Amino acid sequence: MTSRPHSVHDDVTKVLITSEAIQRRVREIAETVSRDYEADGGARLVIVPVLTGAFMFLADLVRDLPHKIRIEVVTVSSYPGDSTVSKGAALVGVLPKDLEGRDVLIVDDILDSGQTLGLLQDEILKRHPRSVRTCVFLRKECRRVREVTCDYVGFEIPDAFVVGYGLDYDGFYRNLPYVGVLGVLDGGAA
Ligand code: IMP
Ligand code: MG
Repeated sequence: MTSRPHSVHDDVTKVLITSEAIQRRVREIAETVSRDYEADGGARLVIVPVLTGAFMFLADLVRDLPHKIRIEVVTVSSYPGDSTVSKGAALVGVLPKDLEGRDVLIVDDILDSGQTLGLLQDEILKRHPRSVRTCVFLRKECRRVREVTCDYVGFEIPDAFVVGYGLDYDGFYRNLPYVGVLGVLDGGAA
């Protein structure tokens, strides 16, 4: 079988973060997370990834965590269709049960307006966890609708709409192994 070299998709005009840089950084974050939760061997740790965008970050991150952990996904909708501006976060479906007394680590692809993580923190706190921390792959430099503290951040990026490594535009480009800016959006919508 021949392997296909990764090339940059024609629609992407700028690669912001290469696949190699992502892999290195995710390993570093996993090491920090492991250290922070090692006191009890991560026994109470529940990872709560936000679908769909966090799926690739999650998959790489948890493979580098040595603990026996639970993963409980949540779905939040905020950017319907081809929108590049948040329409406000709304929980789709229900939150995981049994968060009481647990160390919850929310994992998301990107912190933008702050509404998604803000909403999740509020809802999860109502379940009386022992702790709640947040881990985002990207943090955008922009004016937040809501200020949210992030405990772990992969990369700080400028205020542009980006795709790849789980992030989409209208459902596309999530599979790209790097983070890039689309030609059609470059210099346009944020
Ligand atoms: P927030 O609620 O505005 O902080 O946005 C969080 C969600 O919006 C993320 O989980 C993403 O799904 C989506 N989002 C924000 N910025 C981008 C982007 O640049 N590209 C793709 N999705 C984005
Ligand atoms: Mg998302």
